[in-house]
Amino acid sequence: MLGKILRRYPVRSWAGSATSFETLVGTILSQNTNDLNRDKAMSRLKSRFEITPKALSQAPIHDLIECIRPAGLYRVKAPRIKEVSKIILDRFGGDLDSILEKKPIEARSILTELPGVGYKTADVLLAFVANHPTIPVDTHVMRASKRLGVVRRNAGYEETRLALERLVPTKRRIRMHLSLIRFGREICKAPTPLCPKCLVNRTCPSSTTRRTRLRPRRSARGRRICYQMQCYCRRHTLSTAVEMMLKRTSIRRFRRDAVAEDALNRILLAGQRAPGPGGFQAYTLIIVDDAEKLSKIGEATRQRFIAKAPVFILVCVDIRRFRMILDHLGHDYHLKHGEGLYAKLFSIVEASMVAQNMATAALLMGLGSCFVGAVFYAMKDVSEVLDFPQGVIPLLGLCIGYPEESPPLRPRWPLATIVHRNKYREITTEEIDNYLTLADEAMKREGYYQKYSRRETTYTEHLKWKTQATEWISEHDKSARDFLVQNGLALT
Ligand SMILES: Cc1cc2nc3c(=O)[nH]c(=O)nc-3n(C[C@H](O)[C@H](O)[C@H](O)COP(=O)(O)O)c2cc1C
Ligand code: SF4
Repeated sequence: MLGKILRRYPVRSWAGSATSFETLVGTILSQNTNDLNRDKAMSRLKSRFEITPKALSQAPIHDLIECIRPAGLYRVKAPRIKEVSKIILDRFGGDLDSILEKKPIEARSILTELPGVGYKTADVLLAFVANHPTIPVDTHVMRASKRLGVVRRNAGYEETRLALERLVPTKRRIRMHLSLIRFGREICKAPTPLCPKCLVNRTCPSSTTRRTRLRPRRSARGRRICYQMQCYCRRHTLSTAVEMMLKRTSIRRFRRDAVAEDALNRILLAGQRAPGPGGFQAYTLIIVDDAEKLSKIGEATRQRFIAKAPVFILVCVDIRRFRMILDHLGHDYHLKHGEGLYAKLFSIVEASMVAQNMATAALLMGLGSCFVGAVFYAMKDVSEVLDFPQGVIPLLGLCIGYPEESPPLRPRWPLATIVHRNKYREITTEEIDNYLTLADEAMKREGYYQKYSRRETTYTEHLKWKTQATEWISEHDKSARDFLVQNGLALT
């Protein structure tokens, strides 16, 4: 639906020739009014003052009010423009571009601290001036997104922006923003949309011209949330959490789009919600976003895709903090005596569950992920790269980002082989042969080994290669064991 709207309602960008500061003033003027009134006010302002922070911060307030009168709310907007101009002059030397040149997250947070600059105004500046691939959500974009079922009816600004950004490729985001505004003004109007004239009326869940069967359910009872689209409509019935889990695959190629800070926070919080033994919480999550460190970890683990992942989280077992807490209590605990095997084992289990919770949360938010167990092979090197103190052991890496590939489901053993009822059943040689044939075929069809490691091999050969008894593995095991003993996580 969004693609159709984008093609049918093309719009040229309006801010091309304006300076960043003019765009900011224009956006403040445009609040609660239409483009015509905004433009009138802007041209009156331009004819009287230079549109610079210095000129506008020194402008007499009644003159400002007089100039911007056509934009409405002039008693609010005039002092805002004056105040914003003064802050930009005093704090940033009159150079708004110096804010926009910062990382988008940082720039956004500075901008939204300015009086009268909310998320929308900040995003307009980031999109139109700094070319950052964001979708500002104005009243038309918000209304159309809700009616189209992109987001829930009571979704807020951030939820709507993130949902749209998940659906629209970076290159098309500014055009999508402009097309949705035009579409909202001309067709999906407030309060009454022109559904009979609308090009998406056959698929839009809010269309008044469609069969009622496809309308979104309003009652809270029996509502099925579509996690991918984050809406409660009935059209995406397959996008329930379980369906998404049944279709999950590891993703190793990511789009360049950054994962928003708030999305990452939700993933981390979901990780923390994993169950844990006795409330130990003996794990630490390290977000690694230093390019040099990432590349060193990629080299140490021989998993170079790590360096290209928008987010890399290192999940560590943290015996150090656990011990410090118990020491602080003056307690004589088992780990001090080289015991407490269960606590060590459970800490590994807990950290793994946290990791999986984060991967599942990412999946439900439309992101892809891949674990990197190779950090455990290379635990010594990874610890050195990150300068870990004793007692912190890298267990798993987790790469997260928006998928740039959509691989087929990878093979799994039939349920009957791995699920037994009431007693254990030995696997048969026929089952083994059948599965290996199936897995070899599936991996060959996908070109899995060629794609990710440029090797011509089969699943069976890969399995043997990964588990062969070599001198290297015995040396590696010895050094890993020493490392785990030193760090208090030896299980034997
Ligand atoms: C504990 C663990 C460690 C893993 N380590 C790596 C790794 O180091 N590199 C990698 O490319 N994939 C890694 N994976 C992903 C597996 O290769 C992948 O899950 C498996 O091939 C099945 O594919 P699927 O997840 O797409 O179904 C790991 C997965 C888990 C659970
Ligand atoms: S069908 Fe109606 S409600 Fe849906 S997008 Fe078109 S105009 Fe808006």
